[in-house]
Amino acid sequence: MTDASPVHPEPHFDTVLVVDFGAQYAQLIARRVREAHVYSEIVPHTITAEEIIARRPAGVILSGGPASVHVDGAPRLDPAVYDSGVPILGICYGAQLVALQLGGEVSKLDRGEYGKTELTVADQGGVLFGTDQPRDQIVWMSHFDSITRAPAGFDVVATTSHVPAAAFEDAGRKIHAVQFHPEVVHTPHGQEILKRFLYEACGCRPTWTMTSIIETSVEAIREQVGTGRAICGLSGGVDSAVAAALVHKAIGHQLTCVFVDTGLMRQGEGEQVVETFKRNFGIELIHVRAADRFFERLAGVVDPEEKRKTIGELFIRVFEDAQGGIEDARFLVQGTLYPDVIESGTKDAAKIKSHHNVGGLPDDMEFELVEPLRSLFKDEVRKVGEELGLPEEIVWRQPFPGPGLGVRIIGEVTPERVAILQHADAIVREEIKKAELERDIWQAFAVLPDIRSVGVMGDERTYAHPIIIRAVTSEDAMTADWARLPYDLLERMSNRIINEVDGVNRVAYDITSKPPGTIEWE
Ligand code: XMP
Repeated sequence: MTDASPVHPEPHFDTVLVVDFGAQYAQLIARRVREAHVYSEIVPHTITAEEIIARRPAGVILSGGPASVHVDGAPRLDPAVYDSGVPILGICYGAQLVALQLGGEVSKLDRGEYGKTELTVADQGGVLFGTDQPRDQIVWMSHFDSITRAPAGFDVVATTSHVPAAAFEDAGRKIHAVQFHPEVVHTPHGQEILKRFLYEACGCRPTWTMTSIIETSVEAIREQVGTGRAICGLSGGVDSAVAAALVHKAIGHQLTCVFVDTGLMRQGEGEQVVETFKRNFGIELIHVRAADRFFERLAGVVDPEEKRKTIGELFIRVFEDAQGGIEDARFLVQGTLYPDVIESGTKDAAKIKSHHNVGGLPDDMEFELVEPLRSLFKDEVRKVGEELGLPEEIVWRQPFPGPGLGVRIIGEVTPERVAILQHADAIVREEIKKAELERDIWQAFAVLPDIRSVGVMGDERTYAHPIIIRAVTSEDAMTADWARLPYDLLERMSNRIINEVDGVNRVAYDITSKPPGTIEWE
């Protein structure tokens, strides 16, 4: 379940609460609201009217949900919310709740309605549609029950052939409802409808902008840290990079970054971190060159879980040694994002792989956490990074596992094998970049398995390693599909890897989606 406690430390911004009825749409709604420059937070449907009022929101949006309102135990909204005077927008399941809880009628359809549907807007489009929007428009539906009668006192402002009350509202009470999904891209005027709710019904000001996000974060960090010292583990990834840049903007030299070079980074990555943070930003940076220690510890380790554990534990030891030089640091900066906060209560207990986050908090270290990205979605973090002047390669960097190339080398991790993989991986990424596919692909990288195969190069028989190319598309890494890369691109990668990387004589492409595969190989 999502946590009801506020994420943003202070109500600097008009806030819209998105009540989560269990569909995957709540996050999407929250993001769309923010795209309209209004701050939003997700709260669980068990939230009481009292708790909602205490947060003084500008509006409340009720999300869709997988349940039928007629099922026993189907989630409900605390009915007192309807009398609170806070503007409400019910979407899909949320709209059915509004209908049902306020005395309208929700009936079962013979069959559900899914996909694109023609919506007819009433002449007077009301608050949600106004008079500018087209009277006939396409909307996206996904529901089984249908709202057959709006509650007394409500005006029906749009209908479809299946749903007599596809949009209805009581402008006086500021309660609005739509059976369709305005938050999805398949509803072309959806964002305008959301904006009308936010600006007209809730009276929100569009103040959630990059500049104001940065300003308020800087203030909050200064207030939290005061004259204290903070440390931040840099991994080269976008989250820790943006967190560090933001904290540096707030407290300057009171921040020291620690960058542990495990020897398991991608080609050129370590240099880029040092260049960006030390030279360009002038951030105090402790650069720990620990590759030898990692290789020594990894000698003979082939089991994937043991490898992850070994890398994770040694990382913490090395990090601890480094922070010994800044003993007075009381604050630890972490790049926790809003989706992590939302999901931390809902994470499936089943451990598929033990995840190790670079800069992860060891149990026995006593720090107060500074988490300046706690209220941000990934796309917002990237925008903040761009605004702060971080280079594009860092801001748009693909996700990279904490244990680094260690989990992309099957079998023993040695300096020689890392060098082969780094080289092949650089070619894969370079070709993806040249093909301008970087932003369409979630991750693209090379894997080095522990087998060899026979080949022929020139007139010589070879017996060398293959490289496996892995490229996936994904929304959130929970599921993924193998990317349909053009054949000529695969051919270029294959030719270059075989010709340029010593010790490789064959290239294969991984065509496994997740599930059943995982994105990484270990
Ligand atoms: P899998 O392989 O589980 O990966 O499908 C899902 C996503 O998580 C990344 N990944 C990690 N990220 N620490 C991290 O911070 C880790 O230990 C780790 N292992 C995998 C992976 O790259 C993919 O994006």
